[in-house]
Amino acid sequence: MSQQLEEATAVRTRVRREFEERFGAPPAHVARAPGRVNLIGDHTDYNDGFVLPMAIDRAVWIAFRPRDDGRVVLHSLDFDETASFELDDGRKGDAGWLEYVRGVVWALGTAGHRLTRGWEGVVAGDVPVGAGLSSSAALELATARVATALADVTWEPTVMARLAQRAENEWVGVNCGIMDQLISAAGRAGHAMLIDCRSLGTRAVPIPASAAIVVLDTATRRGLVDSAYNERRAQCEAGARWFGVPALRDVDPATFAARSSGLDEITCRRARHVVTENARVLAAADALARGDVAAVGTLMNESHASLRDDFAVSRAELDTMVSLARAHGACHGARMTGAGFGGCAVALVEAGAAGEFARDTARAYEQATGRRPAVYVCSASPGASLEA
Ligand code: GLA
Repeated sequence: MSQQLEEATAVRTRVRREFEERFGAPPAHVARAPGRVNLIGDHTDYNDGFVLPMAIDRAVWIAFRPRDDGRVVLHSLDFDETASFELDDGRKGDAGWLEYVRGVVWALGTAGHRLTRGWEGVVAGDVPVGAGLSSSAALELATARVATALADVTWEPTVMARLAQRAENEWVGVNCGIMDQLISAAGRAGHAMLIDCRSLGTRAVPIPASAAIVVLDTATRRGLVDSAYNERRAQCEAGARWFGVPALRDVDPATFAARSSGLDEITCRRARHVVTENARVLAAADALARGDVAAVGTLMNESHASLRDDFAVSRAELDTMVSLARAHGACHGARMTGAGFGGCAVALVEAGAAGEFARDTARAYEQATGRRPAVYVCSASPGASLEA
């Protein structure tokens, strides 16, 4: 058994065991929803563009059973804390992780799926929190899985992802796009997912057996990510207005080249990133589908340069990690991934050398920066699921 499979099994076993200890009976169900890593296509989702993420083999698990009253009681093993709320309490709180659960319950209610009975359970996960691997989307989609089981609502990944995004935007107050929620809901084992963030159409793209996806956490976190993220969104919207289109998705590279000289420099750079990144995502999906990992790697490298130079969301440690990863003979390409400003890089490497790559790159990074990175060799996993 691989080490990660053992760890995932351990989390699942832990929530079941803890549930039995607390409630004196086995859970009715266990819900699971994965974190994600984005192979290419960052800051494109909120521009109605394209992304190519995969769900990873790290997830949030919730063991639960219904209650007879209208209360939700949840014990978090990771935060070592029991928290609760009444289903009909529509006031937002500041209870940290619980607000993601409350937000999803609220969002389902706005869509006509009001829960009438509460539930109780145990939650735990192995998606590192705050690393940019979407532990919050995983918690949201695991909650949606719980709620749909209790309310007897059909699980429709796209609908649930939209509702989870609504919870994050309107309840938690983070203005994210759709990528994290949709891949956590709709991931497919062994595949990355090309997502059209306007139509929400998806195309599963197999990851060749010869390639491994390695996530390299720089062990840097940056505050104020929200304000920088919102600023980038506003700059993109200004760019779309200037081109007279609903979103930058509607600007192709030729139109951009012909007309962009009239834009102010910052807006021009931001828009150029989005326009070129969308083209790279589509090219990378095709290259991956035909097994051309060298071409995917080159596109990943170009993506990093664009995020660093035009979109200005990288930082020194991410650039260092990416350079060290690329210097390894087994690496096809590497880039920062997710919102940026800190967190993780992702590398596409030869499967047979993934362990050695992970060790060597981690050591080189620690020598260069004095920070100890976490490194995860990830396999692409299925989206949110429910087991008896
Ligand atoms: C965060 C957001 C996503 C997306 C990425 C950048 O992860 O939650 O919606 O915008 O940043 O690609």
